[in-house]
Amino acid sequence: MIYKSHQTLPAWTYTSDAFLELEKRHLFLNNWQLICHSSNIPNAGDYFTFNFFNERLVAIRNENDEINVFHNVCSHRATKLLEDDGNCGKRIRCPYHAWSYDLFGNLKSVPYEEQFKNFDKEDHNLKPVQMEIFLGFIFAKINPSSAPSVADQFNPYLEELSLYKLEDIKPLGRVTMRPRDVNWKQVADNYVDALHIPVAHPGLSGLVGNSYGIELSEDGGFIHKMWGDLNKTRKKNLSNDLYKKLLPESKHLPKNKQMHWSYYRLWPNLAFDIYPDQMDFMQFIPINSRKTLIREIPYALPDERREMKAARYLNWRINREVNAEDTELINFVQEGMETSAYSSGPLAESEICLIDSAEKIRNSIPVSCLEVEPDADEIVKINEELLENKDKKVKNIFDKKKT
Ligand code: FES
Ligand SMILES: [Fe+2]
Repeated sequence: MIYKSHQTLPAWTYTSDAFLELEKRHLFLNNWQLICHSSNIPNAGDYFTFNFFNERLVAIRNENDEINVFHNVCSHRATKLLEDDGNCGKRIRCPYHAWSYDLFGNLKSVPYEEQFKNFDKEDHNLKPVQMEIFLGFIFAKINPSSAPSVADQFNPYLEELSLYKLEDIKPLGRVTMRPRDVNWKQVADNYVDALHIPVAHPGLSGLVGNSYGIELSEDGGFIHKMWGDLNKTRKKNLSNDLYKKLLPESKHLPKNKQMHWSYYRLWPNLAFDIYPDQMDFMQFIPINSRKTLIREIPYALPDERREMKAARYLNWRINREVNAEDTELINFVQEGMETSAYSSGPLAESEICLIDSAEKIRNSIPVSCLEVEPDADEIVKINEELLENKDKKVKNIFDKKKT
């Protein structure tokens, strides 16, 4: 019943809505979530919304050129104030009863104000959310927690990331939401699974040859990093060959980054894909235990060269194929976890990011150490007990429960 080291989480943690509630509380609301890049909201009044579980957030730029993140919830009767993204002018006006707030979140006008007794507008401003801007990306953390800042988590990679001038990138397209009928961990695990690359991605592995690498960041291992060099190509493939041929020099990048693809995963549910020609973020948004949205926006430095446009298109084509291959794989894995045949499986020593992901979840949600699924209405209680007794051995506590 107890997990071994170098072992996946049990299958039930990928199919249980009660477990997802624990993940929401212990992983997602305590860690940083990316809303968008500052360049998505360049002008005063520009806003960008982000829905996450039952939370509604909005990043908005004010007349002082500052960006704030607020709960996107009216203080009157809780209506959602802003939809999607856009510009709200000088005021955020509630669509229900027309309360309006300035761009700093202050409640400024209330129709029929005299009818509200003992009413002080200052008590009803928008609620701010803790935020951080890292390399132009706007992050928010919904619950107070000891999670280090995004900058601290990325600290071991600041130097290499700074080469890409991410503060200056602009959106290449709108946000897309790609639904997947799997648990969010399938998508996240697959992102950091290195052993499948040569087996399941003939196009990608043809492009990066045997240069594909994987590592955990130093400084606490918050970041999972993968990378590949395109000059190590080992197979012929039309999109790959054309991409390599057309990709023009990026003057801001050193020689060893001209043909280098890298991937960074910020715990728990964010991925940065960084290419010489563009970058994108992918965020794995759980909808329920068996449904996930992949939220994605591509960005790039302004570059009007025709070869750059062609290279970006080819990059998209190569990665579209990779995505289709991965979608099939994660569906197979989710299906397998629903069968009676599987509980958990071993992880190879080289799969450092998968081992780390499972360990991080076991540490924050120790009920995931149990091989057999507890009753849904018991999960929270058992987890609380395990958390309280973190110093003692999980095995002892569970054995005691059974007697
Ligand atoms: S709910 Fe917003 S004004 Fe009433
Ligand atoms: Fe993959």
